[in-house]
Amino acid sequence: MNLATKINLVLGVTFVLALAVVGVNSYLLTRDNALQQVTDQAELIMQQALAVRSYTVNEVRPLLGQLGDAGFHPQTVPAYAATQTANLVAKERPDFSYKEAVFNPTNPRDRATAIEERIIDRFIADPDLTKLVGTEEINGVESLYISYPIRITNPGCLACHSTPEKAPAAMRAIYGDDGGFGWRLNQIVGTQMVVVPYTLPAQLAQKTFISFILSLAIIFVILFVAINVTIRRLVLKPVRRITRMADEVSKGNLRDAELKVSGKDEIADMLTAFNRMRRSVIKIVQMMRRMQAEAKAKARPKT
Ligand code: HEC
Repeated sequence: MNLATKINLVLGVTFVLALAVVGVNSYLLTRDNALQQVTDQAELIMQQALAVRSYTVNEVRPLLGQLGDAGFHPQTVPAYAATQTANLVAKERPDFSYKEAVFNPTNPRDRATAIEERIIDRFIADPDLTKLVGTEEINGVESLYISYPIRITNPGCLACHSTPEKAPAAMRAIYGDDGGFGWRLNQIVGTQMVVVPYTLPAQLAQKTFISFILSLAIIFVILFVAINVTIRRLVLKPVRRITRMADEVSKGNLRDAELKVSGKDEIADMLTAFNRMRRSVIKIVQMMRRMQAEAKAKARPKT
């Protein structure tokens, strides 16, 4: 194997190893970043929904209560306010959603789907769990969800969610007696769940990863060419010249001109040393030839 091949082999192996290590690292990093970004988005939507809930309880309900009309206004129900505003947002961004999903809902639109039921079951199985974050394919879209358990901690909730008889008649007139009843104190009845699409950030991470690897590959190719050209010019060419010259000297050809030396590096030193050695060899050879001639002349019988 010649020198250039060996060097290129080392470069190639280094390149592949570096690409693998840096590639995997950068992929994980961009993916984590993307996940973080989407999680932040989902958290924001959740905070928004919680804010709408407390706004409704603290500011809307007391005002409507003052009106003193006997009707029931779902607008005073925090779950309704949060869901309605989230649905308005979802009109613009259909992939984003907020839902208060329960097993036994007052409003049928809040009925838990199979995925939501699974999440509620996990909250029921582990009462210490306060939050679940995960990715899941929802309606054909790779999505990230954040879920909080809905636990009935306030006895006031049972005024409308225990038995139909206890609930306001005006509410029953709208919602009927079928759902949203039978809830007990401290029971986990459902989950507040935010879903945001995860496809875009995942694609973004993939794109970043590919362009990173491509730039790295381009840098390596440039480096590869530069190192090869440099080695060829600075090392391989002078070494070949020395080899050729040494070959000629060993065959007894002493007439060729000396090797040209330029610069001041180790190769130049080697060329100078080689020229010096060649000169010495030439001197020795010439001396031996002279001695041979003299010996011949001496040996010839005098006439
Ligand atoms: C004045 C009656 C009333 C009170 C008090 C009340 N709710 Fe509700 N709740 C409703 C109505 C009506 C709905 C249906 C709203 C809609 O149409 O979206 C609802 C819906 C919900 C939902 C959405 C799921 C579903 O059943 O449709 C949750 C969760 C919920 N309530 C939890 C609570 C909690 C927790 C409390 C106590 C902090 C509470 N509610 C107090 C009347 C009430």
